[in-house]
Amino acid sequence: MLTPPPLDLVGYRACLEACRERYPGLRILSGVELSEPHWHASRAESLLDTGGFERVLASVHSAATAGGAGFTEVSECYQHQPPEQVVRDYLHETVRLIEQFDRFEVLAHIDYPVRHWPLDAKPYDPRDFEDEYRQVLSRLAAAGKVLEVNTRMPLDPLVLRWWRQEGGRAIAFASDAHSPDAVARDFGEAVRLAEAAGFRAAREPYDFWRCG
Ligand SMILES: [Fe+2]
Repeated sequence: MLTPPPLDLVGYRACLEACRERYPGLRILSGVELSEPHWHASRAESLLDTGGFERVLASVHSAATAGGAGFTEVSECYQHQPPEQVVRDYLHETVRLIEQFDRFEVLAHIDYPVRHWPLDAKPYDPRDFEDEYRQVLSRLAAAGKVLEVNTRMPLDPLVLRWWRQEGGRAIAFASDAHSPDAVARDFGEAVRLAEAAGFRAAREPYDFWRCG
């Protein structure tokens, strides 16, 4: 089990300011991605109260372990559960996140467990999970949130179509880079996907893309 240290907000802000001074032509927003914030809402909210973040993402990365005694990274679940169950459980947990925690703007990587879909399993097909995806997307839309198009793995165009059908009106792009050389990777393809789904750029490059 991973128990990370508290976020070093002072160090984070200092780094942010250094980057802004070094690259004055860039508009660098501050931000945070909260993992399972509904499991520890008071800690998440106190971080938001003090962090002053300009963009707040929420997401699920973890699942209960087989015995229910603890939690594990969701990719570990493939070792003891059918892949379909891993994805369904992930999407159900994402619904609970949206229902139980409101202080975020963007839902990150809705298809996160698919990154680790087993090679020897029946190929992943989002249509096998349409009901579960729609449950997430309809609640996300009703809550007025933004769906992230994450380019670590191409988002299936069907999911974006369902997002619009369920009332979704805004998307954000993210490369989940984790290293500078991967920032904005495959954004060209993501833009084509978004435009094909009817989303259009905002006036400012850092704003969300919207439709209708
Ligand atoms: Fe994430």
